[in-house]
Amino acid sequence: MRSFALVPTVCVAKLIEVTAMQKQFLPTILGICFFFGVCSPSAREGSALETVRRSTESIVTECAICHSTKEAQRGPVLHGMDAWYLLSQIQKFHDGTRGQNTDNRSEYLMGIAVKKLRNKREMNVAAKWFAKQKPMPAIRTVAGDAKSGAALYASRCAVCHGDKAEGKLDTASPSLTKLEGWYFIDQMRKFRNGQRGQNALDPGGQVMAAAVSDLTPHQISDVVAYVVDAFGPPEAPSLRQRFLPLPLETNSSRQ
Ligand code: HEC
Ligand code: HEC
Repeated sequence: MRSFALVPTVCVAKLIEVTAMQKQFLPTILGICFFFGVCSPSAREGSALETVRRSTESIVTECAICHSTKEAQRGPVLHGMDAWYLLSQIQKFHDGTRGQNTDNRSEYLMGIAVKKLRNKREMNVAAKWFAKQKPMPAIRTVAGDAKSGAALYASRCAVCHGDKAEGKLDTASPSLTKLEGWYFIDQMRKFRNGQRGQNALDPGGQVMAAAVSDLTPHQISDVVAYVVDAFGPPEAPSLRQRFLPLPLETNSSRQ
């Protein structure tokens, strides 16, 4: 399709020649120019994509394939996260600051998915929609020593993320109160082992990576277990608890 872009240039050159030559071909040449220059498929598709305002629903339905609150999603639940943080991450994925490292497969997947968002308006719409959703209960998946986790949080995290993990805009540090344990610990490991926060154009990520680079796996489990328990989303019953048969007495007392 790119070759069509050459056609208008060739046309202008031909028109100049034509004035000196056979004028009877002028209408034909103009017709060809009009077809390729104005009506070329690339020109039509480009302008149509820009002008169609997709509804919020059609935008977020695409995100929900991986970010809904059903079990076994490929991405984290984003419900109730701060709009500023969501937008900042969406922009990082969009401009390639995050999500281009093939060693970080889940992040890479999101780097592809973000292309569904066509412009700034759609990025804003998606961030605002997820920020407005009610936070979801989460299954506790990370075990650790809450006491040492609390001490570690107070001395190593609170300065940027706030005393109650509420987040601080002035340090560009997000709230940690909506994170599920599995995603939280996964991101901590990625910051520590260099899979996130290494891009020179990502000062926020770099600051966070430096802040946790010396933590041991134990310390990471402790701090994640503590934050999820103390400030995180309400606990959801595990799959096992949900599908365990009710005790016999309970069954009979219901009849
Ligand atoms: C194919 C699956 C998939 C789709 C579709 C998808 N995402 Fe993601 N998204 C992910 C995964 C996986 C991650 C976690 C990346 C990681 O592990 O670092 C993620 C991460 C994110 C994050 C970062 C969250 C954080 O806490 O830092 C945001 C924001 C986000 N996605 C927004 C969106 C939006 C908005 C859409 C819809 C346009 C969307 N995603 C569509 C898979 C997807
Ligand atoms: C010097 C400030 C600073 C310190 C200290 C710090 N963080 Fe962060 N943290 C940040 C910033 C900035 C970001 C946002 C990174 C980005 O934009 O990608 C962040 C991001 C995170 C994220 C990613 C959240 C998400 O949704 O993907 C987690 C998890 C996190 N921090 C946990 C912690 C924990 C736990 C500690 C203490 C052990 C800690 N941070 C210490 C500044 C800090």
